[in-house]
Amino acid sequence: MEAVHAHEHGHEHHPSGIMRWVTTTNHKDIGTLYLWFSFTMFMVGGVMALIIRSELFQPGLQVVNPDFFNQMTTLHGLIMVFGAIMPAFVGFANWQIPMMSGAPDMAFPRMNNWSFWLLPPAALLLIISLFVPGGAAAAGWTLYAPLTVQLGMGMDLTIFAVHILGMSSIMGSINIITTILNLRAPGMNMMKMPLFVWTWLITAYLLIAVMPVLAGAVTMTLTDRHFGTHFFNAAGGGDPVLFQHIFWFFGHPEVYIIAIPAFGVVSQVIPAFSRKPLFGYTSMVYATSSIAILSFLVWAHHMYTVGMPVQAQLFYMYATMLIAVPTGVKVFNWVATMWKGSLTFETPMLFAIGFLFLFTMGGFSGLVLSITPVDIQLHDTYYVVAHFHYVMVAGALFSAFAGVYFWLPKWTGRMYDETLGKWHFWLTMIFFNVTFFVQHFLGLAGMPRRIPDYALQFADFNMISSIGAFGFGLSQVFFLYIVLKAIRSGEKSPERPWEGADTLEWTMLPTPAPYHSFETPPVIK
Ligand code: CU
Repeated sequence: MEAVHAHEHGHEHHPSGIMRWVTTTNHKDIGTLYLWFSFTMFMVGGVMALIIRSELFQPGLQVVNPDFFNQMTTLHGLIMVFGAIMPAFVGFANWQIPMMSGAPDMAFPRMNNWSFWLLPPAALLLIISLFVPGGAAAAGWTLYAPLTVQLGMGMDLTIFAVHILGMSSIMGSINIITTILNLRAPGMNMMKMPLFVWTWLITAYLLIAVMPVLAGAVTMTLTDRHFGTHFFNAAGGGDPVLFQHIFWFFGHPEVYIIAIPAFGVVSQVIPAFSRKPLFGYTSMVYATSSIAILSFLVWAHHMYTVGMPVQAQLFYMYATMLIAVPTGVKVFNWVATMWKGSLTFETPMLFAIGFLFLFTMGGFSGLVLSITPVDIQLHDTYYVVAHFHYVMVAGALFSAFAGVYFWLPKWTGRMYDETLGKWHFWLTMIFFNVTFFVQHFLGLAGMPRRIPDYALQFADFNMISSIGAFGFGLSQVFFLYIVLKAIRSGEKSPERPWEGADTLEWTMLPTPAPYHSFETPPVIK
């Protein structure tokens, strides 16, 4: 109560300017920081992707040397996963979880601040690793031993960056879990929570379970490099395949750490623009939980080629295929939500439907790869690259765009330009497929990934893919323009921006949350 009084009497000190952002403990401010950080990293990782695609525009070596090419593949992957996609959804979590569950703020506001401010130094470590002797780790984002034991100092910076990113994620997860379990408004039962809140609760448990495993993998790499251990050194009695096991025990659930909050956003957007409650809410909660649990049992489908017993291959193959069942439940529910709905197709809905279509395609190519004998053929080819970009870009990124367009009016009080938003969707949709659909064919024809040069028969599809990539990149600069225009001069948004497709009603939130406000909520003692 004291803090409330202090606020009323104007004694509370609010820093302004840059210090407001450095010291903020407000979940909305921190959400905004996460989202802008995410977009910045999206641009940095995007430039790296365009360097890769420039080199692959033609066969032969024209733009960069092979070592730098490999550094780009590493940093593009790490920056997009840890710098762009994950922070985007943590930004959504910060903005939406307190408002959707009726909490005054996140449970630990100061730790929330620290979770965010760990990210810029970690990203900086990754980027400056390019400029140390030997350059960034040229090992791919999976950082496989034994190569990483031999690389230069860039690898040490990468290891340190991964440690910091892990700390940030774990603290963020503790905050999210505590907020959801302890700070819900009266009457907000678990089974009444908007699905976005549910998906983040599940994701936060996944993060706490696997980030320490990744930290362990890179710490073992570190001690192999500098302290004379031989975890991954066969000559010293270790095993390089051990690294792959540990990495993918983290790496497969990581796919769902990215995908599950994306499911959450889509589960808010589709009901809103269908003007119907979400179909099969309870089954959505259980399907999401099943996906999370199964994601711990399938990691070795990334390593069919290391030479494992047939029994193990069969186990991982069938376990992986099993994930298609709860995923199918979710896709069915989204489609059933739209069925006989009063549909409109504003930009958030377009991105949500784009997600549904393309993520399902990514799921199908994942099923193809889960079949052991097929995977052994396609391992380390562009088919794999195509598959996971359908999951990561068409899945996570499309969902993130849906979320930004959907919630921007709530966050800023202003509308974006609907015509421009639709242009952004169609440009993104077309250029995404131009870039990545052809990569399925390259992979089926045997083009290996992470190689800067290629045989002549791959030339045409590579040129198409590179043209698509540049179009895709430019479309995202256009997205920046749309958002800035909305913030600066967008029309004032009505309290219910989606004309009957109101978020609050269809997500079962009992009381309107304090939208349009950057004020610090009163501290609850
Ligand atoms: Cu996997």
